[in-house]
Amino acid sequence: GAPVEVDISSLTPGEMRTVEWRGKPVWILKRTPEMIESLKKTDSQVADPTSKRTDFSETPEYALNEWRSIRKDLLVVVGICPHLGCSPSTRFQTGAQPSLPDDWNGGFLCPCHGSTFDLAGRVYKNKPAPDNLQVPRYMFEGDNKLVIG
Ligand code: FES
Repeated sequence: GAPVEVDISSLTPGEMRTVEWRGKPVWILKRTPEMIESLKKTDSQVADPTSKRTDFSETPEYALNEWRSIRKDLLVVVGICPHLGCSPSTRFQTGAQPSLPDDWNGGFLCPCHGSTFDLAGRVYKNKPAPDNLQVPRYMFEGDNKLVIG
């Protein structure tokens, strides 16, 4: 399929946009400084902090880091659960929510079997999803254009 070009100039911190790429939803989340900071905390809580697992998909080299992205402020992942393919929902709010970990920093929750993912798309320990959320091939053209695929 053809690459998908996305103008990200109007994305504000904390905002997420979904675009379609090869029939799949791709999430583009502009992380706030607090969201980026939270990844240090979740490092010890996720099953595969440096994305070494390859059961579901291989993480591109430029995303083999704590924030799983080229730009720290911008997360780009496929919004499909690596377990059985359900659509996780966004849970950015903090505070008590049943079925979420006590010290939840925000992230994604799969409604099917309860896999949770942090704000880098990294799956929490002891969840059914075998991998982190997939990072697609992408690049930037200047500051405001994201090219996926
Ligand atoms: Fe997401 Fe099973 S499909 S946890």
